[in-house]
Amino acid sequence: MQTGILYGISVGTGDPELITLKGLRLLKQMPVVAFPLGVGGKPGMAEQIVAQWLSPSSVQLALNFPYVQDETILSSAWHQAAEQVWQYLQKGQDVAFACEGDVSFYSTFTYLAQTLQELHPQVAIQTVPGVCSPMAAASVLGLPLTIRDRKLVVLPALYRVEELEAVLDWADVVVLLKVSSVYEQVWQVLHRRQLLSRSYVVERATLPDMAIYKDLCDRPHLKLPYFSLLIVQVTVEKSLIQKSKEKIS
Ligand SMILES: C[S@@+](CC[C@H](N)C(=O)[O-])C[C@H]1O[C@@H](n2cnc3c(N)ncnc32)[C@H](O)[C@@H]1O
Repeated sequence: MQTGILYGISVGTGDPELITLKGLRLLKQMPVVAFPLGVGGKPGMAEQIVAQWLSPSSVQLALNFPYVQDETILSSAWHQAAEQVWQYLQKGQDVAFACEGDVSFYSTFTYLAQTLQELHPQVAIQTVPGVCSPMAAASVLGLPLTIRDRKLVVLPALYRVEELEAVLDWADVVVLLKVSSVYEQVWQVLHRRQLLSRSYVVERATLPDMAIYKDLCDRPHLKLPYFSLLIVQVTVEKSLIQKSKEKIS
C-alpha cells in the first residue's frame, strides 16, 4: 500500500484569512490534521487559527513539542510525534500539519519532517508557504520591512547581547523574534544607540488582541507575550524621508 503524504501547511500569524487558498483547500480535505499541543491545556496558536476551517469528521492530532532547550528531551518528543503521524501515513492516509506563520521559517514542522524521514524514508513530504511574522508585523505597522539595497537581519532568539551589537553595526533593519524574555536587555542596547524612536514592538500580530508599540523611549519594562517581535530601523532610508517631507509640504 502506498503511504500517505505529510503536508506542512503555513496558516499565517493569527488572522484566519491569511491562510493561502491552497493551504485552506488541503486543510478542508485532509482526513487527519495535526498541530502543536497548546500550553496549560489551552489550544495552541495554529489550532486556534485552523479550528473554523476543519471538517468535523477529520481526526485532530495535538503533538507535544516541549518548550525546552534540552536536546535529549526534544529529540524524544520529535520521535514520538513522528511515530504518531506515521500511524496514519502507513495506512495510506494523508496528514496535514498546521504551522503558525510560515512552515519554513523557524518552524517546529522542520524537526517533525526530518525525524519522520529518518525513521521512514519512504514518506513524501510537501509544504505550502505562507505569511511569516516579520511580514505580518510590517503590514500592521504600515511600514515596508525593507527596500532597495537595505540589509535585513532576522535574529531568531538572542542568547548573547554582543550578537545584537554586532548586527546593529552592520544591518539596516533588524527583526528580533522571541524577544519577550530579553526585552529589557535589548531596550538598554537600543537606548545607548539612540534607536528607541525607530524601534517597534508588535504583540500577537493580526490577532484581535494585537498590541503595537511604535516608540519604545518610555517603555523600558514591557511585559510581552511569547508571540511578540521587535523591529529596529537601524538606518533611515533616504527615499522614505523624502516621501514623508513631500506629504508634509
Ligand atoms: C518559533 S518562531 C515561529 C515563527 C513562525 N513560523 C513565523 O513564520 O513567523 C516564534 C516567534 O515568532 C514570532 N511570532 C510568530 N507569530 C507572531 C505573531 N502573530 N505576532 C508577533 N510575533 C510572532 C515571535 O517572535 C515568536 O516568539
